[in-house]
Amino acid sequence: MNNYTQATRHEIEFRLNGEEYAIEIPANLTLVELLRQELHLTGTTEGCGVGVCGCCTVLVNNKVVASCLELAVNIDRTEVLTIEGLADTYQNSEFHPLQDSFREYEGFQCGYCTPGMLIASKALLDQNPDPSDDDIREFLSENICRCTGYDSIIMAVKSASKEMNA
Ligand code: FES
Ligand code: FES
Repeated sequence: MNNYTQATRHEIEFRLNGEEYAIEIPANLTLVELLRQELHLTGTTEGCGVGVCGCCTVLVNNKVVASCLELAVNIDRTEVLTIEGLADTYQNSEFHPLQDSFREYEGFQCGYCTPGMLIASKALLDQNPDPSDDDIREFLSENICRCTGYDSIIMAVKSASKEMNA
C-alpha cells in the first residue's frame, strides 16, 4: 500500500442495527455507498444523490440523516439505524407497526421511497408519539414520494402511532 492510499483510508467503528462493525474505508465513501456497496445492506435506496428526495434516509444517533450526503467516516463511534433494523426496535416484532400500517393503508406503490419514509416516520414518532396530520406532513416534507399522493402515508403513520400508544 502506498502513502497516498494509506492517507485516504480510515478505520471506523460503529454500531449498525444493533451490531458492532469495524471497517477500513476510503475517505470519500458516502454513507449510502458504505451501506449498499460495502455492507450489502440494499434496503436503503439512493434516488437523487444530492440530498433532496429523502430516499436514503437513515438515523445516526437517532437523528435523520441523508446518507447520500454524509461521508461514511463521520459515522465513526455512532449508532446507525437502517430499514433492515427497524423491526428490531419494536418489541422484537417481525415487523414494526409502521411497516404493518404502511402495508395496511397502501402507503407505498413502487416502494422506492419507502425505506426512507419509514425511517423518517420512526424518527417522528420517537419525538412526537401522537402527531397531527400537519405534524406528519411537515416532518416528512423532505421525503418525496412520486406514487402515493401522500394521504395513504399520513393515514399509515397515524394508525401506527395509535397502535404504539395503545
Ligand atoms: S438520495 Fe439522498 S436525499 Fe435523495
Ligand atoms: S411509493 Fe413510489 S416513490 Fe413512493
